[in-house]
Amino acid sequence: MAADGFQFAFTSRVETLTAPIWEKVKHHVTPLEWRAQAPLIAAINQLKAEKDAVILAHNYMTPEIFHGVGDYVGDSLGLAKEAAKSKARVIVQAGVHFMAETSKILSPDKTVLISDLQAGCSLAASITGADMRLIKQRYPGVPVVTYVNTTADVKAETDICCTSANAVQVVEEAARLWGTDRVILIPDEFLARNVARQTRIKIIAWQGRCEVHERFTAADILEIKAAYPGAEVLAHPECPAEVLEVSDFAGSTQAMNDYVLKRKPKRVVLITECSMADNIAADAPDTEFLRPCNLCPHMKRITLENIYETLLYGRHEVTVEASIAERARRAVQRMIDLPPPTVPARYDLIKARHHVNVELI
Ligand code: 13P
Ligand code: SF4
Repeated sequence: MAADGFQFAFTSRVETLTAPIWEKVKHHVTPLEWRAQAPLIAAINQLKAEKDAVILAHNYMTPEIFHGVGDYVGDSLGLAKEAAKSKARVIVQAGVHFMAETSKILSPDKTVLISDLQAGCSLAASITGADMRLIKQRYPGVPVVTYVNTTADVKAETDICCTSANAVQVVEEAARLWGTDRVILIPDEFLARNVARQTRIKIIAWQGRCEVHERFTAADILEIKAAYPGAEVLAHPECPAEVLEVSDFAGSTQAMNDYVLKRKPKRVVLITECSMADNIAADAPDTEFLRPCNLCPHMKRITLENIYETLLYGRHEVTVEASIAERARRAVQRMIDLPPPTVPARYDLIKARHHVNVELI
């Protein structure tokens, strides 16, 4: 039953319609759960067609959302690119609020919906537009690169946005365009420290943290490696630098996904949000996933039930004030317009072992 009281039955029609999805998720979802989820998945997919809507789902969505109703799934960069080119009238963001704002900034004429307005982000909450104006006064002429995990107000004060998939490339491009050897990279201190180890550009950082990734330690990783010899450790660059130093690979959520699907490791550990492993596991039957993961409470606010209600009632619409959206769009579009990197974006973990100085604001 959905939260609004609608009853959904697991009919034979629902079973047939959702059979290909069940094949994908059946090792991660119990038959009991599936009988409740499948009718909602069928109803959501029907509503999407009726309303000319697409669902952009982040890699941290649970498998029934990711595999069941996501029209496009990926990392923050992929979702932003998809929002910019989507032809649908309505975008439903299955992710957190800053992602929905980014979609609205890039698609001002579309209706952008999110099923829970409280789905925030500790990084986006760590800095305001007013902070940004003060920072720019303190460092005149220094380009400001902002992680997409920020509010529209902050993006409006930004020269060029980045994601974890392209942060090194964007920092170097900003330094080249502005003719400087210093770049402000905010608000994630750990991403900034990890980027600083990949470039000669001096990084000026802010003390924002992802509440999911900041909790991993190098000791956690060493313990796993000792307990499971041969397990490959893939870490997200929002983790502390000491975690990357003892990992085998670091990259955005999509880069981790691609690593597992291409290299098919026998055993892998994803040092990131828990749903990542569930989602990739459905496509990687020969890989064993060890799961010392952390949940993102914001991402987990998005459920099949509230996505269904979002489509049915057209709530909650995400809007961005026109003058802010226009300035923010420049920063996001500059990132999207960058040429694709010549080599796949990854963090060089040999370089990561060299410590560098980062100036904290
Ligand atoms: P990416 O998907 O861009 O790697 O970002 C991870 C994240 O924490 C998004 O909230
Ligand atoms: Fe924000 Fe971290 Fe959650 Fe991503 S995982 S939405 S960065 S709190």
